[in-house]
Amino acid sequence: MDFHRNPDLDASERDEGFELSLRPQRLGEYIGQEKVKARLEIALLAARKRGDVLDHVLLFGPPGLGKTTLAHVLANEMGNPCKVIQAPALEKKGDLAAILTNLEEGEFLFIDEIHRLPPAIEELLYAAMEDRKLDILIGQGPSAQTLKVDLRPFTLVGATTRAGLLSKPLHDRFGMVHRLDFYSRSDLAVIADRSARVLRVEMAPEGAEAIARRSRGTPRICNRLLRRCRDFAEVKGKGVITEDIATACLALHEVDELGLDGLDRAYLEALCGKFRGGPVGLRTLAAALGENEGDSLEDLVEPYLMQIGFLDRTLQGRRATENAYAYLGIKPSAGPLFG
Ligand code: ADE
Repeated sequence: MDFHRNPDLDASERDEGFELSLRPQRLGEYIGQEKVKARLEIALLAARKRGDVLDHVLLFGPPGLGKTTLAHVLANEMGNPCKVIQAPALEKKGDLAAILTNLEEGEFLFIDEIHRLPPAIEELLYAAMEDRKLDILIGQGPSAQTLKVDLRPFTLVGATTRAGLLSKPLHDRFGMVHRLDFYSRSDLAVIADRSARVLRVEMAPEGAEAIARRSRGTPRICNRLLRRCRDFAEVKGKGVITEDIATACLALHEVDELGLDGLDRAYLEALCGKFRGGPVGLRTLAAALGENEGDSLEDLVEPYLMQIGFLDRTLQGRRATENAYAYLGIKPSAGPLFG
């Protein structure tokens, strides 16, 4: 059995021009996340009215829901550029110090995976966010001195898949904390439709719905499936994404009616079969699936399985629900599926 995500669907296409071109540029074009948008809109209007920079924003939620997109949208709305960095790429304090001191007034700094900042680097952010100051240590030993450098006003947008992993001092320095939720099917159908227009591919409403149903509440997956369907329509059809084309294409890629793929099914089969429905620890499950740490399971697989009511996370470990058994077509009392 293939325990890994279909490589065609798994490749990180985040930075490809494809995804970038599909990203909305302004808040008005951003579909879904209505509550978050309403709160941000007020903050944007107020900041513009005061001639101030936007307060620092923390965005959290599962991958692919549009955190990076939203950071760019906020910068566009304020008429300022946005620098993007991945927290794990920062190795030394000097790396962040150089970025911060080079920010222009009003510029946005987007730090992705902000929970993965090394502690020493994270500490630099405290004064930078709160007082727009940077503490730079000059020299070593007893004669070492701290130099305070003024920074130009800027907005930090931090993104994390799990807000609970952020240290309290860092968390508390964000003026706004917004959780992005999985998107509804109707929002995803609108996103698919918008993206099809951007890509200039013709699509029937039923085609958009077929894609939306299988997108696991996630625009990134929706846009990825759309691209696969576009290929399929060009090669096997007349270039139009009809419901039949979408269904046949997604069957070819082993994405089922619920949007679950090989890795999701392997997870459920291990949990319900090998571990008899749990409770089982994440690391044990990850080892059974040949995944190293379990981080990718925690970020990419579990949130959606919980969202659709297939999985409970308890203090004792992961537990399968009756719905998960029903999906696999086995009884909860059944013995191990394999091994
Ligand atoms: N593309 C990706 N995410 C989107 C969103 N939330 N709205 C519109 N287009 C998108």
